[in-house]
Amino acid sequence: MKVLFPEIENKTLHLIGEEADKLGLECYVIGGWVRDLFLHRGSKDIDVVVVGSGISLAEQVAARLGKHAHLSVFKTYGTAQVKNRDLELEFVGARRESYRHESRNPIVEDGTLEEDQNRRDFTINALAICLNKDRYGELLDPFGGIQDMNEGVIRTPLDPDITFSDDPLRMMRAIRFASQLGFYLDRETFDAIERNRERIHIITKERIVDELNKIMGSRKPSVGLYLLDKTGLLSLIFPELSALKGIETKEGRGHKDVFVHTLQVVDNVAEKSDNLWLRWAALLHDIGKPRSKAWDPKMGWTFRNHNYIGAKMIPGIFKRMKMPQNEKMDYIRKMVDLHMRPINLIEDIVTDSAVRRLLFEAGNDIDDLMILCNADITSRNEEKVERFHKNFELVKQKMVELEERDRIRNFQPPVDGIEIMELLHLEPCALVGELKSKIKDAILDGVIPNEHDAAKEYLLFIYRGNA
Ligand code: CTP
Repeated sequence: MKVLFPEIENKTLHLIGEEADKLGLECYVIGGWVRDLFLHRGSKDIDVVVVGSGISLAEQVAARLGKHAHLSVFKTYGTAQVKNRDLELEFVGARRESYRHESRNPIVEDGTLEEDQNRRDFTINALAICLNKDRYGELLDPFGGIQDMNEGVIRTPLDPDITFSDDPLRMMRAIRFASQLGFYLDRETFDAIERNRERIHIITKERIVDELNKIMGSRKPSVGLYLLDKTGLLSLIFPELSALKGIETKEGRGHKDVFVHTLQVVDNVAEKSDNLWLRWAALLHDIGKPRSKAWDPKMGWTFRNHNYIGAKMIPGIFKRMKMPQNEKMDYIRKMVDLHMRPINLIEDIVTDSAVRRLLFEAGNDIDDLMILCNADITSRNEEKVERFHKNFELVKQKMVELEERDRIRNFQPPVDGIEIMELLHLEPCALVGELKSKIKDAILDGVIPNEHDAAKEYLLFIYRGNA
């Protein structure tokens, strides 16, 4: 079906069409940019398909755009890119693809526009709009992509078994789009993912994590995470998360389904923060629960030290997933380790000393930790939730007061190791560390103020054997 779609008024696209006319080539804007145009999402990546040589059109366009345009040609792939200010234009000749079973790298041959649309992943990504002057704005929607967009459906243009088997990354992409756009998976598409799930093993970890990050970045990440689980992909790519599923009952007592709880916590955090790594911390905050689960006849189900066990699991998970083992990982590990602390605080009497210690350990990440802890309260008992939230506010208030007074957040002991050695005429030795740590404890416990003179006096006091 051919529909005229005149709203697409864009100077750069007109220019591309004019240059294509000069070369006598048919050309179309296609894929994500067209999809996002209809969804009002705004995109800076424009894919242009040329029936003929994409490279020659890119060269012409770059020349016409002038000195701000930067052209890169990839001869082996027959593609070219033009960067112009914040726009990224990709040019490629229309092609058809065939795949071999063991690889997601296709055999590529020149093809027609229709063949090019056929090889695309989803109906909503197969829309093309003509840029040539006499057909400018003509929409080619051979698979009902507009209707699918209106109905909020992710569907493959061809037999989904072929689409997913050709390129199994598309199974992750289907779920990622469902999560990002709030769409649902068409039944046949869903079933095909379930059938082809084992093919995910030919995809590199980096690409899988890329899609996972996009799911985690969506407004309600649980949409994608539930779909990963229901299609059976989750247990293949992230078994530690699948292990959180289920409820065990003993003597009539069950525990929470930790998977369901975790997804709720992720959504709660996503409502408050766009920080991807805080969302990951929410996803992993209870990851140690299956390993720490035990039955105690008096107390029922217990998950002792699950925060500690969980924090220890994180480097292994990052390594397997080929995620960077850097300061982001350390941040997540710290969040997982500390996630019980504020809640334990409010269950006891909130002492200044306990609050100071928490401020000290969380440092600048204390606000993120409080977001995570608030999100972690998912009880169905509204009264309990309200009480917790109220107590949290008290803890927060106390934190502000203590921080103002004692400046604990980025606390460095006011007397450092060098000064200790000078004052006491010591060589570097274990005692210096011990003394430093005693000063730190005295400040955190409120024995002395966080000040240089008081710390020095205290140092001399304890060195003489008084503490
Ligand atoms: N595409 C595909 N199969 C893939 C990847 C991409 O068919 N595994 C096609 C789709 O038509 C897609 C287009 O190539 O729209 C461009 O891909 P890409 O830039 O990766 O994704 P977008 O759809 O633009 O979305 P996003 O930028 O959010 O990743």
